[in-house]
Amino acid sequence: MPPAIHRRLSAPKAMQSTVLLARCQEVDALHKQCGIYTKAPVVDKILDAVGWEDRNDLSQLRLLEPAAGNGAFVTEAARRLVISCRKRGISPTVKLLKNCIQAFEIHRREALAARVKVAKATRELGLHHATAKALARAWIKTGDFLLSPPSSAGYTHAVGNPPYVRWAKIPTALRTAYSEKLPRGLIGGDLFIPFLDRSLEQLRWHGRCGFLCSDRWRFMAFAETFRTKWLPQLEIMSENSLLAANAYVENVDAYPSILIASRTQKEGLPAAPALRSGKTIKDFGFKIRVGPALGHAAAFVLDEDEDDVERQLLRPWIDTSEVLEGSIAWRRRYVVAMHDNEGALIKPSQFPLLMKRLNRFRANLSRRSIVQNGAPWYRPIDRICPSDWAQPKLLIPEIAKTPRLAIDWSGAIPSHGVYAIFAPEGAMDALHHIGAEQGQLAKRAFDRSAEAIVDADPLGRVRRPAGNLGSGDRVGQLYRIEDQDTAVRRLDQTAVL
Ligand SMILES: C[S@@+](CC[C@H](N)C(=O)[O-])C[C@H]1O[C@@H](n2cnc3c(N)ncnc32)[C@H](O)[C@@H]1O
Repeated sequence: MPPAIHRRLSAPKAMQSTVLLARCQEVDALHKQCGIYTKAPVVDKILDAVGWEDRNDLSQLRLLEPAAGNGAFVTEAARRLVISCRKRGISPTVKLLKNCIQAFEIHRREALAARVKVAKATRELGLHHATAKALARAWIKTGDFLLSPPSSAGYTHAVGNPPYVRWAKIPTALRTAYSEKLPRGLIGGDLFIPFLDRSLEQLRWHGRCGFLCSDRWRFMAFAETFRTKWLPQLEIMSENSLLAANAYVENVDAYPSILIASRTQKEGLPAAPALRSGKTIKDFGFKIRVGPALGHAAAFVLDEDEDDVERQLLRPWIDTSEVLEGSIAWRRRYVVAMHDNEGALIKPSQFPLLMKRLNRFRANLSRRSIVQNGAPWYRPIDRICPSDWAQPKLLIPEIAKTPRLAIDWSGAIPSHGVYAIFAPEGAMDALHHIGAEQGQLAKRAFDRSAEAIVDADPLGRVRRPAGNLGSGDRVGQLYRIEDQDTAVRRLDQTAVL
């Protein structure tokens, strides 16, 4: 290469490497201040508290870890995700799971260490080494969480132990970048404040967060904007302080606490989508299903103390009494998924425990009319197919004195008395809107007499899918009918979305 050209190319390159080196030194300095890692029992406690548990269908959920370090949270979250799939007979492929976890770590070496740990943990659970490696790569990003574009899909869970660094101690170039890019009210105090803010921003409504962090956000002046913004939008489920020696792997002088909260909409609801007459939520691509009729529930539903069916066949079961206003009080009952994910009836003879249980109910099961009409004696009336219920959904009891709605994230299967509304791809926020609007929209549809309208179903002008939703007459009889005219007018005005 002629010397002149060499000089022209090498100057920008030299500059680039100087900038890179300076950035690495800053990141290294930042990491030295805040790389305080979480002990495994605390990670377990936080993941349990937010419901990232393998009894749930985690393959439908999305977890954020904004500051992964060497992977304490993300490794355990990944283990639980793979076990959750295994328990359900779901194949843990890269395609299915790559979006279930997203972790950020600014320090290249630590991000690599986290990937190695995660891949090892998932390989130990039987994943092929290429799958384990690809997932670890997809899940853990080397990058700056505070400056990365937010996820448009949002997260159902956010967990971690965000960096705790006083603003003045953040290395200069990073501090300048944060001061320029982050909201003014959140900078200047401590780095963990914008971490919490940005994590909560990306948390879906009803999503849960669990952070090991200082409780100084509660009372310090620098966190006032944060408090004003978030306290009305959070339901704090617990906040417990613990000894630093129990929380961190390193020996540090700190006063941590564990904050568990759910993102709710107590106040400041974003404007609801405009209500337009004549449209139904089905017109907008939402799907409505009613829980499967079983034909003899005692045979298929296991109480909390029953344990006599192969675990991989069991899915959480929710009936009307467990759907509360805005939350689900699951009584730890399970239903047997009598159909596989493709909808084919399973053969009980291949599952000795199930066979033994069903045999106990054989006489009752055989008396049912579907069996007399030729169905196998062990078939439930409707199919019980886990993939039908795996997506997050809004649950609404068909019959209730007052309307109640709650979002289920767990892939649970509802009983026949519960409607489920599923959002179309990318429209979870709209589903949240319906959930969050329960005090308004749903009540408007149900309130007092709306139920008398035979053609209306729980969310106003949702037209009944063929043969599946309950009878409006029955609903009408069970809700108080006081003023039908008002109801008709209301329903005419109440289109959903
Ligand atoms: C307190 S440690 C927690 C690590 C891990 N979550 C744990 O609990 O063991 C915080 C980590 O955040 C990383 N970090 C700091 N600033 C960051 C940023 N802007 N984006 C991503 N990671 C960052 C640090 O390098 C450090 O490893």
